Amino acid sequence: MQLTFRQLQVFEAVARLGSVTRAAEELHLTQPAVSMQIRQIEQSVGLPLIEQVGKRLQQTDAGAVMAHHARLIAEQLRDIEGAIEDLKGGDTGRLRISVATTVNYFTTRLLAAYCREYPRVEVSLDVTNREAVIRHIAENSADIVLMGQPPAGLDVVAEPFMENPLVVIAAPDHELTRHQRIPLRTLEQYPFLIREPGSGTRLAMERFFSDHRINLSRRIEMSSNEAIKQSVEVGLGLGVVSGHTIALELEAHRLVVLPVARFPIRRTWFVAHRAGRRLSGPARSFRAFVLAHAAALGPPPEQRGEPVT
Ligand code: PGA
Repeated sequence: MQLTFRQLQVFEAVARLGSVTRAAEELHLTQPAVSMQIRQIEQSVGLPLIEQVGKRLQQTDAGAVMAHHARLIAEQLRDIEGAIEDLKGGDTGRLRISVATTVNYFTTRLLAAYCREYPRVEVSLDVTNREAVIRHIAENSADIVLMGQPPAGLDVVAEPFMENPLVVIAAPDHELTRHQRIPLRTLEQYPFLIREPGSGTRLAMERFFSDHRINLSRRIEMSSNEAIKQSVEVGLGLGVVSGHTIALELEAHRLVVLPVARFPIRRTWFVAHRAGRRLSGPARSFRAFVLAHAAALGPPPEQRGEPVT
């Protein structure tokens, strides 16, 4: 077999992303270039590796074996890159961060401060929901992730760095804003904007309502915090969001936090990476930076939307 590292890298991306188009995007190649590389690898291996089944790409048995080893080799190559960067001083190189959407409101500020201190680190930030962050960490496509509590089965080293209170928001002219204290059950009477499946905010909210036997009468699903905030603002319903996402709207009096009994739902953000994985210099410095500076960079409690009790 005559395979080049580049071919393995192309195959690894196609296998991981399940799509030639997405692999081409990630590798900054054209689609035909990726398809041609795959054909050349198949010729060299002497077996088909990928089959088109309907609209989806599926790995053959040989493809699965190849994908497994290509992933290990890609990891090793990244480790070599990291080790060399360390020898050059540790503050250069690539840093791939994946964060849950709620954390992003705060991450940009944190990143700005980090990049001022480490100007030679090349950062790529992926903002996505909890489910995708978990996938990134499992697939090793992120060096460091910032997210809610990682699930028990995930093999990670995770350290808490900040509280993430979830609060109930309403439009300033909503009838419930006239109440000093709102019993939890009252929420059952109002339509609710909820995040998409796979969102950590949604998971925490559903767990909380189910623990307290609350059945929401009407649920409207939306796939971003921004869409939820805007819909609440125009009176479509109530919503549960991270207090960190609403600082601007509270300041501009476009949203209010309702004083609902048993709220906020107390969650915590974690900085995490795959256990047993060698962290690159930038990943180590970013992790240390988060743990050292997050508290000072986070918004003060009154802007985080925690109800005053
Ligand atoms: P998400 O983020 O709702 O965008 O998934 C929440 C989290 O896990 O903190």
